[in-house]
Amino acid sequence: MNNDISEVLFNEAQIEEAANRLGKQITKDYEGQKPLVLSVLKGAYLWTADVIRKIDLYVDLEFIKISSYHGGVSSSNEIALVTDVQSDVKGRDILILEDIVDTGQSLQFLEDLLLSRGANSVRVATLLDKKEGRKVDIKADYVGFDVRNEFVVGYGLDYKGLYRNLPYVGILKQEIYS
Ligand code: IMP
Ligand code: MG
Repeated sequence: MNNDISEVLFNEAQIEEAANRLGKQITKDYEGQKPLVLSVLKGAYLWTADVIRKIDLYVDLEFIKISSYHGGVSSSNEIALVTDVQSDVKGRDILILEDIVDTGQSLQFLEDLLLSRGANSVRVATLLDKKEGRKVDIKADYVGFDVRNEFVVGYGLDYKGLYRNLPYVGILKQEIYS
């Protein structure tokens, strides 16, 4: 599996450092509140596990599953809600944990959904921000790392369901998907 990667972008130590940095900032920013951490499956599961352990606050944890990618290397415009949140978001301060913000369409979909259900506030903490990929005008509140417009895998991010278990984030060799 490691042979399919052309370049390691962020190793385990760097990711841990990012989780620590964001966790501290979130702890400060939400002082006195009890945010609802909303992890976006499947890509954000490892990032969620690492970040929440760096947040020194009472938090609720929920999961939501959306599909946007259909297994390829470019985002799709159609986003579907696959598995909904299991609790009421009305009045809650929601912190979405995402693996990557690319076109921004998934995040836009989630924000619209949560606000339409009466969430008090919605922010996002993303491991990766691919700003060049943006198609809608939306910004992440907390960013682990900026990434170039290249297809990356590992640490939760997949290509056709694989590579999520790599402990680092790396660039997938082009010959794997072309
Ligand atoms: P967006 O709706 O275009 O912002 O895409 C968000 C979703 O697309 C992410 O949550 C990922 O699941 C997927 N995605 C976007 N870029 C990449 C990538 O480079 N590698 C793996 N998945 C990606
Ligand atoms: Mg995702």
